[in-house]
Amino acid sequence: MPDIADMLAYRFGDGGPSCEGAEDNDLIRRVLSRKTVRRYSDKLPSEELLDLLTACALSASAKSDFQQASTLRLRDPQKRAAIGALFPSMPWIGNAPVFFVFLGDARRLHRIGELRGKPVENGTLEGFFNASIDAALAMQTMILCAESSGLGVCPISVIRNEADKVAEILGLPDLVFPVAGLCLGYPSAEGFVSLRLPREVTTHSDRYDDGKLAAAIDDYDQRRHARHAIPKDQQRSTAEFGEASFYGWSEDKARQAAKAEGAAFPPYLRRHGFKFD
Ligand SMILES: Cc1cc2nc3c(=O)[nH]c(=O)nc-3n(C[C@H](O)[C@H](O)[C@H](O)COP(=O)(O)O)c2cc1C
Repeated sequence: MPDIADMLAYRFGDGGPSCEGAEDNDLIRRVLSRKTVRRYSDKLPSEELLDLLTACALSASAKSDFQQASTLRLRDPQKRAAIGALFPSMPWIGNAPVFFVFLGDARRLHRIGELRGKPVENGTLEGFFNASIDAALAMQTMILCAESSGLGVCPISVIRNEADKVAEILGLPDLVFPVAGLCLGYPSAEGFVSLRLPREVTTHSDRYDDGKLAAAIDDYDQRRHARHAIPKDQQRSTAEFGEASFYGWSEDKARQAAKAEGAAFPPYLRRHGFKFD
């Protein structure tokens, strides 16, 4: 069994805390070595296991106990194919043995207000945010439980880029929105443990301080490049930004983020009950 310090070194490689002496357990070890999986065997998880994983997801913490997460399992092969066809560059969306959608559900609280004769205005930023967080926590809980059962998963937020079409296929009413899909199945190919940003960048003590960001990112780029170099033909937007002689994580993410994604989502939400005030 690998040493925790070795697992941390592999996850971060940042010379940060080795956590030596901390009591660890199976879950901690799994989390430290977890990885997204996008290729699956044909073997189907049992229905009982999927029901159990759904129950785990819905056991996640929920803001104010409002319980504003809902799950939707997409079983209908035609609907699966229709969703998959919207995202041809991500074939795992259509191919994964199981596909869930995690929904932010601000509608239920609205309806409960009606049922109790106490109108609830839940299309606010607060309502949207609470429902989003509940759904994200539910999804992450399913992810960790599924991985602990030998399954591999891949969250899918790209579905929000086609929110209108996805909502139509799934029959989503006002105040219910997709936070992310989740592909799930038994892995057919080893993924890889993705090197995380150095903890000196992502952790703060008592006071926020990103004074060392530039140097730390340069260092991270080099270490990540040494482990998983991005091939030249996978450089993004070369027509606009040119071909970089050194193409690290930060160059890749800056180019990716410079092309804003998700422009269709805010208008979709505004047409479906959210005012964000
Ligand atoms: C909210 C969320 C949305 C994501 N959406 C997608 C997606 O649309 N397509 C995809 O292939 N991977 C998606 N991913 C997977 C990430 O790319 C992956 O988690 C990231 O590269 C880190 O890799 P790791 O999970 O193996 O550590 C998503 C992950 C999260 C948390």
